[in-house]
Amino acid sequence: MTTTIDRPNLLADPTSHTGATVEFRALRRSFGSVQALAGLDLTVGRGELVALLGPSGCGKTTALRVVAGFEQPDEGEVLVDGEDITRVPAHRRDAGMVFQSYSLFPHLSALDNVAFGLRMRGVGRAERRSRAGELLDLVGLPDKADRYPHQLSGGQQQRIALARALALRPRVLLLDEPLSALDARVRLTLRDEIRRLQQELGITTLFVTHDQEEALSMADRVAVMNAGRLEQCAPPAELYARPATAFVAEFVGVMSRIPAHADGAVVHVLGRTLPIDGAATHGDVDVLVRPESVEVAAAKDGKAQILGAAFLGAITRLTVRTADGSTVKVDVPSHTATALPLGSRAELTLPDRPVLVAPRK
Ligand SMILES: Nc1ncnc2c1ncn2[C@@H]1O[C@H](COP(=O)(O)OP(=O)(O)OP(=O)(O)O)[C@@H](O)[C@H]1O
Ligand SMILES: [Mg+2]
Repeated sequence: MTTTIDRPNLLADPTSHTGATVEFRALRRSFGSVQALAGLDLTVGRGELVALLGPSGCGKTTALRVVAGFEQPDEGEVLVDGEDITRVPAHRRDAGMVFQSYSLFPHLSALDNVAFGLRMRGVGRAERRSRAGELLDLVGLPDKADRYPHQLSGGQQQRIALARALALRPRVLLLDEPLSALDARVRLTLRDEIRRLQQELGITTLFVTHDQEEALSMADRVAVMNAGRLEQCAPPAELYARPATAFVAEFVGVMSRIPAHADGAVVHVLGRTLPIDGAATHGDVDVLVRPESVEVAAAKDGKAQILGAAFLGAITRLTVRTADGSTVKVDVPSHTATALPLGSRAELTLPDRPVLVAPRK
């Protein structure tokens, strides 16, 4: 974490930037027959960045809107620092929100956009302008104070929106896909920037994204939601290596299914008997495998066949058909991929390690 950056005034009141804890308790919210939140439980620690990940329509935006106070739950509570704020009106909450689409006021300059919330709170003109100026510095746009939104690029507009959300020194920052409208390069830069700012200011942050890589690379923990509920919330490496449910296993990263037969604590798969990572079970199951944990070798009489290859830089991801007709993704170093041309026969092997299993699909 960087501590040497000279931003005296913004950080002058350290207590104002201490992040709060946020707790969702059994939140429910329906729109007609659609259950947007179906009993959401999640606790976010002080100063933590939690990424909310999940399929479209699983309730991510609704969850953020409930924290911001733009949406009332039908049941359940939201606690900030242990205090139930479920019925507190939005303008009295200590949360700043940045939306997916640029939501700047088109008729206000960048500086006035950032200062807007301060004006609403009755902060005097001079202080407002000085604080907004500091925030423009913070997001790297000190020279854009007088520009109007239409004179700014998408990335610049999102920076301004971030500065506006930070202007009120919120203890909770809510980011709803703030980078999704930006091109890949700007996105990467802003990703690093948001993370650095968030850590520097110690703001508790809920970050909604569709982009798994974004979630896994930025977050302290990733919360995977499905149909209005939490499936699992864990640090990125744990989520990837030890998914709690088949849904998480298949939603995060690439996962292939290989039909297999379970026999208590072990499973028979691809001609081997491997221990099951998880509860013992019996009968027909699927073994879940990551592309990097399957081995493939060219074999003239092999039972598997190479169906496709995608060059991804250092590695090439092969699509391989097994003897029983399922397809498995397998990563190989790109310099070895020529030994496994399309249509050729191969042998697939799973290393001698415990494997994840899921009910047969
Ligand atoms: N104001 C509303 N009126 C009616 N239905 C709504 C409203 N807001 C959300 N919904 C519905 O609730 C569900 C959850 O919506 P939400 O916006 O929270 O999903 P999301 O996870 O943010 O999806 P996306 O990734 O597409 O942004 C969806 O089925 C949506 O259509
Ligand atoms: Mg959304």
